[in-house]
Amino acid sequence: MSGGIAAYKAAEICRRLMDAGATVSPVMTIAAKRFIGEATLSALASEPVRTSLWGGPEPIPHTRLGQSADLVVVAPATARIIGSYAAGISSDLLSATLLATRAPVLMCPAMHTEMWEHPAVVDNVATLKRRGVHFVEPGVGRLAGGDLGAGRLADPADIVDAASTLLRSSRSLDGVRAVVTAGGTREPIDPVRYIGNRSSGRQGYAVAAELAARGASVTLVSTVASSLDAPAGVDVVEVETAMEMLASVEARLGAPGSSADLLVMTAAVADFRPAARSDQKIKRGSGVPDVQLVANPDILAGLAQARLANNAPGPLLVGFAAETVRPGGPTLEELALSKLRSKGADVIVANDVALPGVGFGHATNAVVIVDRDGRSVQVPLTTKEKVAVAVVDAAERILVTRNLTS
Ligand code: CTP
Repeated sequence: MSGGIAAYKAAEICRRLMDAGATVSPVMTIAAKRFIGEATLSALASEPVRTSLWGGPEPIPHTRLGQSADLVVVAPATARIIGSYAAGISSDLLSATLLATRAPVLMCPAMHTEMWEHPAVVDNVATLKRRGVHFVEPGVGRLAGGDLGAGRLADPADIVDAASTLLRSSRSLDGVRAVVTAGGTREPIDPVRYIGNRSSGRQGYAVAAELAARGASVTLVSTVASSLDAPAGVDVVEVETAMEMLASVEARLGAPGSSADLLVMTAAVADFRPAARSDQKIKRGSGVPDVQLVANPDILAGLAQARLANNAPGPLLVGFAAETVRPGGPTLEELALSKLRSKGADVIVANDVALPGVGFGHATNAVVIVDRDGRSVQVPLTTKEKVAVAVVDAAERILVTRNLTS
């Protein structure tokens, strides 16, 4: 805990972690002690509260704490602790422990909106994310002093969920090679115009981050590499068109000695592209252009067919389906199952993009996940990160049985 008004919520986080079966060693900064008493934390946690590098029974408490932890959760994380961690400065027990640990770190920032949006804090957070530090982003709500805005400590239940995901999932996909595609392809008409779609790429980035958190080595083939931060530990390849995406996916799936075990096609691939791309900008004066379209290859279906033709196991194939469910028509699950068959995929993740808050351009999603073994999982409206957990769970279940049976 570092010193912010939200430190009082650390008591609930501590209690929930204990309820979930964790061993909890509270570390408080001097400022945190101004907001919550040591006695509260020591009554809730399993280990004694530590507040200083000096004067305790151990000569070097930070290295023991750092080395023995399976996970370090900083809640609340103030601008100061984020800054000193990013800069590698250890000025107290908490910052020294952060530098001394090799365990995953989960930062849960809480501060005033102005501070959270300050370029120094934004840069420090980006630096830490690049180094593989995990964050539970602050929410929007009432802040100290009655102000409203972004910077409020995330809900303790969400923080404990994120902590358990990191602990539960760590390294279960060690040695697995995965390729994930993300974003909408752009099919150029001329140097300035293209045919595109509304995909933000966020669901694909969340899937890549979840796979990497479980130890998979992940290549993300992305059309939105310039607008989204690369998830920690993920290798990003930037592409623009469906044909470039196909070439990039095929190169990575089939690389000799390093062929991939899993492909997650989250990208919204354009089904058609202009037959010809004009090298010159088409001028308005030359009249309305007659843009002829030709079909793009279906990357997912093509790979499924190749897998059948080669009679080889090939990579596990996960596809997405953006559907609109009509009253009286087939259900989302039925549509997902028919896409599973028509594409020859192993898993299909379908969403109803006509529902509010679902899919394209939103931070949230609601999906049904069907697989070739007849399983079906409903994920009601939630964050794209939680949908990613369910998608990776579905893939992992099949990868595990495949390894057991092959
Ligand atoms: N896909 C692909 N190559 C394409 C088009 C789509 O690999 N040329 C993949 C997408 O990445 C996604 C799935 O196939 O995983 C979506 O299938 P698609 O048939 O495009 O579904 P919808 O967009 O829902 O289209 P429709 O139902 O209209 O056919």
